[in-house]
Amino acid sequence: MSQEQWSAVDAYLCDSLIPEDSVLSDALRASDQAGLPQINVAPNLGKLLHLLAQIQGARRILEVGTLGGYSTIWLARALPKDGHLITLEYSPEHAAVAKANIARAGLSALVDIRVGLAVDSLAQIAQEGLAPFDFIFIDADKPSNPYYLEWSLKLARVGTIIVVDNVVRDGEVVDAHTTDEKIQGARAAVAFVATHPRLSATAIQTVGSKGYDGFLLATVVS
Ligand code: SAH
Ligand code: DHB
Ligand code: MG
Repeated sequence: MSQEQWSAVDAYLCDSLIPEDSVLSDALRASDQAGLPQINVAPNLGKLLHLLAQIQGARRILEVGTLGGYSTIWLARALPKDGHLITLEYSPEHAAVAKANIARAGLSALVDIRVGLAVDSLAQIAQEGLAPFDFIFIDADKPSNPYYLEWSLKLARVGTIIVVDNVVRDGEVVDAHTTDEKIQGARAAVAFVATHPRLSATAIQTVGSKGYDGFLLATVVS
């Protein structure tokens, strides 16, 4: 099995199931042109986030890690007209690209981009009384995963869905002695969820156009 094969299968599945969408392809092109890293979710993971939020009937969504707003657009499109999505981004440059992409997607009225360290924005959101969120997507700096999960629980209700991206990392997640902070962050997310009495979770390995990685899916049970 090779990257070439994974990409070919992803191309087939995405071409079949996810209609060509100029808003999303323009968002990726604008992100590339602005020099953003190509670490957005793959189209089929974006669609999965969209479907999960829709199945959930989510009215309030929280995203940690905006980049150019690609996953933001997938998620915000699952919201009703009076829904709301708050997305947290440290980099003003990334946030500016996301803002333009979200505007072109016609989603500006639903989406609030908060620029700054996510931990600060999360505390602010709690103070503002904007919780509970129905769906939370964690996809920012991996070492902070435990903080983001801790905050997610404070901002959640019973039944909230939490997705954490990048918990497999080429399979390196099994290396307990890793010195790679991103892999330590993946392990920290798994360990947090495994031991937390308020969470019920699973994790799924994925291969595809973005390589070999995976995501964690949890729901708040108490
Ligand atoms: N969810 C996006 C990808 C996010 S990439 C998508 O799939 O389209 C991770 C993003 O998190 C980057 O833009 C990075 O600048 C941002 N980030 C990193 N550390 C952060 C922090 N401490 N607080 C907020 N955002 C952070
Ligand atoms: C990286 C971050 C991501 O969120 C992702 O989906 C892939 C890679 C990274 O920082 O390397
Ligand atoms: Mg990611």
